[in-house]
Amino acid sequence: MKLGRLNHVGVATPSIEASVAHYRDVMGAEVVREALNLPAQGVRVCFVDTPNSQIELIEPLGDASPIAAFLAKNPLGGQHHVCFEVPDINAAKAWFEAKGARVLGEPRIGAHGTMIFFLHPKDMGGVLTEIMESPKQAH
Ligand code: CO
Repeated sequence: MKLGRLNHVGVATPSIEASVAHYRDVMGAEVVREALNLPAQGVRVCFVDTPNSQIELIEPLGDASPIAAFLAKNPLGGQHHVCFEVPDINAAKAWFEAKGARVLGEPRIGAHGTMIFFLHPKDMGGVLTEIMESPKQAH
């Protein structure tokens, strides 16, 4: 497998609104995408563009949100995961499984509309890692 570009860094936050204000007013971000509710995943997300990548702001949605425990431990929010692109999601899954890395659940549609899966941080040097199939059209 060939590692692709860093698509985004996921940042958990108790408030997308407050984080957007931070990235815009303190960090100088110029492009903030529309926030989206992803009820099936228990999160609300909002992408902030950087010149070479994106920050994915993630706020809990609903009581059973998968990031509730992270925010309980990190009340201010913080870096949650990194996401790398690959050309073929199924080939990547087979590759990581052959390397002994635990794939968390089945590949599913992610916030960019392409297939994603997560890898267990204990098999990734402590970093929760998202693998995403590259969008077919140009960025
Ligand atoms: Co992500």
